[in-house]
Amino acid sequence: MKILVLHTPKGGSGKSTLAREIAVAASLAGRSAALADLDPQGTTSGWYKRRKAEAPALVRYTPGASLDPLRAAGVDWLVVDTPPATPAFLPGLLALADAVLVPVRPTPDDLLAAAPIARSLAKHSAWAFVLSQVPPRSRLTDGAARQLAALGRVAPAQMTFRADFPAAAIAGQAAMEFTGKAAEEAAALYAYAVQLMGESDATSQG
Ligand SMILES: Nc1ncnc2c1ncn2[C@@H]1O[C@H](COP(=O)(O)OP(=O)(O)OP(=O)(O)O)[C@@H](O)[C@H]1O
Ligand SMILES: [Mg+2]
Repeated sequence: MKILVLHTPKGGSGKSTLAREIAVAASLAGRSAALADLDPQGTTSGWYKRRKAEAPALVRYTPGASLDPLRAAGVDWLVVDTPPATPAFLPGLLALADAVLVPVRPTPDDLLAAAPIARSLAKHSAWAFVLSQVPPRSRLTDGAARQLAALGRVAPAQMTFRADFPAAAIAGQAAMEFTGKAAEEAAALYAYAVQLMGESDATSQG
């Protein structure tokens, strides 16, 4: 089982949105994907309650507990949504993760938070920033991408600010499940996550 963690202590950056898009994309690609919601706000759990489809599953996972029950249940991709904080369990969770994605909005305030996050992930071999909620045609974006690239890897797939992301969440869906630019961006991010996890999508087809 592979573990992908969405992490940044910065609130509202897009952790839950990206976790859901990626988990839905993984299940559409034939993986047995599951989401774990470690945020007491319960954003992803609330989304799952509104969702009609069962996949991806929402599973209980207590950091530090054995992962064997999830393995035994056949989960092959666990996508973990985390709170906007640095809880005590975080170092252990990051150490377990096969990959970590860090959503960052291209604003000066969010960029200020990026350096300490990069330091906290310095020992991790597979992590990347993801530019998130990027305003269309904004001069903020190139500068932000350059600043982030000086601190760590930046996902080649970025997420534009698009109403399709929250609109899909109304009924517990992901923009990934529709057609359009939001779906294309989510698909590109999922493809990058597959690569960061050291996998290829051919693995899941057989
Ligand atoms: N690309 C996007 N375009 C438009 N709206 C977005 C996008 N990404 C996220 N949002 C919206 O921004 C808000 C914050 O996103 P989200 O809940 O994913 O962030 P978060 O990092 O999980 O927040 P928290 O730190 O509170 O857990 C939500 O209302 C979400 O619907
Ligand atoms: Mg969240």
